[in-house]
Amino acid sequence: SVEPTISITVVGASGDLAKKKIFPALFALFYEDCLPKHFTIYGYARSKMTDEELREMISGTLTCRIDKRENCGDKMDQFLQRCFYNSGLYNSEENFSELDRKLKEKEVGRLANRLFYLSIPPNIFVDAVKYASSRASSASGWTRVIVEKPFGRDSDSSGELTRSFKQYLTEEQIFRIDHYLGKELVENLSVLRFSNLVFEPLWSRNYIRNVQLIFSEDFGTEGRGGYFDNYGIIRDIMQNHLLQILALFAMETPVTLDAEDIRNEKVKVLRSMRQLTLDNVIVGQYKGHTRGSKSYPAYTDDPTVPNNSLTPTFAALAIFIDNARWDGVPFLMKAGKALHTKGAEIRVQFRHVPGNLYKQNFGADLDKATNELVIRVQPDEGIYLKINNKVPGLGMRLDRSDLNLLYKARYTKEIPDAYETLLLDAIEGEHRLFIRSDELVAAWSLFTPLLKELEEKKIAPELYPYGSRGPVGAHYLAAKHNIRWGDLSDDS
Ligand code: BG6
Repeated sequence: SVEPTISITVVGASGDLAKKKIFPALFALFYEDCLPKHFTIYGYARSKMTDEELREMISGTLTCRIDKRENCGDKMDQFLQRCFYNSGLYNSEENFSELDRKLKEKEVGRLANRLFYLSIPPNIFVDAVKYASSRASSASGWTRVIVEKPFGRDSDSSGELTRSFKQYLTEEQIFRIDHYLGKELVENLSVLRFSNLVFEPLWSRNYIRNVQLIFSEDFGTEGRGGYFDNYGIIRDIMQNHLLQILALFAMETPVTLDAEDIRNEKVKVLRSMRQLTLDNVIVGQYKGHTRGSKSYPAYTDDPTVPNNSLTPTFAALAIFIDNARWDGVPFLMKAGKALHTKGAEIRVQFRHVPGNLYKQNFGADLDKATNELVIRVQPDEGIYLKINNKVPGLGMRLDRSDLNLLYKARYTKEIPDAYETLLLDAIEGEHRLFIRSDELVAAWSLFTPLLKELEEKKIAPELYPYGSRGPVGAHYLAAKHNIRWGDLSDDS
């Protein structure tokens, strides 16, 4: 029988994402022997470049894991020898036909599978999909397309994009990437919930007081203002990354681990979320700030951002899920750029212990005595549970301690980048960690009315200094629901 080969074309090969994430992830998979035996990688972009120049460009971005230094140089050479370049326009039938001819030369005598990774701006998505599919689809094997967000900027534009894609591709062929789903701790959420007896029984309004999903970056939108200003933090982080985490956190048990079963549950829980309203949202934007001799720019200092921009670089909001499991439990989301720390985490705050015998040991503040489960997605991946414990010694003094699973103390293997996990899944045809079109519809119907209202009413973001903890409005929002934000930097 004929052996298969795979041709992977990175469309938008000279872009930032390709250089920083896609080529390095492909190399890491090659190094781990996870790529099929026969493969070819093609870079496709507008700039004129030779194969050698492409190799030169990407060789600088490839790295070897600390535990895998051996043979690294040889491996890189072998990998680079399988990388080629085709210069072309994204809307040219002819250029994609040319690519097709080149791919065929490498595929001769084998069953050819083709994977296209579209790492290009949204205004050219549809053209690229059209020509990749009509001019450069595989005649003998499968053809799949990975697409990066933004998948539209509201329900209408996203629906339009989906309809256009579906003129040229089936849902099976489309892999909509949300790279947060490829992060180790996000993938682990289901394992934690469904393969431990001690969590799932507590996973409901009966025991959980609130859940917090927090994303923060300690740098601004430097260099990306042009893209960002048209989207804002709600579309950039919340509608996708945080909402995906929330769906996995809150969904019911899927029938099996099959992609369709999992995504059915995600869609269900997304559709149970209550419409977002302005009184449960606060938006912010960072302003310039000088600390010592260093000064940090305001968002609007970016030359590609209009001076009067109202685009939020920070937002906090409360989501409610109107189903039996979560009725009345606030899910707080917070995401911001140019804050004091960098990290992403899920915090689960449990209810007070009813009739707590040790009440007097906590003084007036029983909140300090509640259990909290923290799932730290990044950095320093880990899971810890805050519990109350007797301080050893005579007398009775209690304190809060952590049952702590710190990944780098427990596991010696380096954690793969999310893009490695996702690329491997796409190569294997596994859709579990990709967004199905009805999930996208549900995610946009949750956020679109709110985004419209913010824009139509020209809601001014609360300014916060670059490098701060964000606008105080976020605390009022939490306080309204009797909640205090947890904070990574306050943990022991
Ligand atoms: C991207 C956003 O999707 O995720 C960026 O567009 C953000 O604004 C990035 O910086 C964060 O990803 P990570 O993996 O660095 O946390």
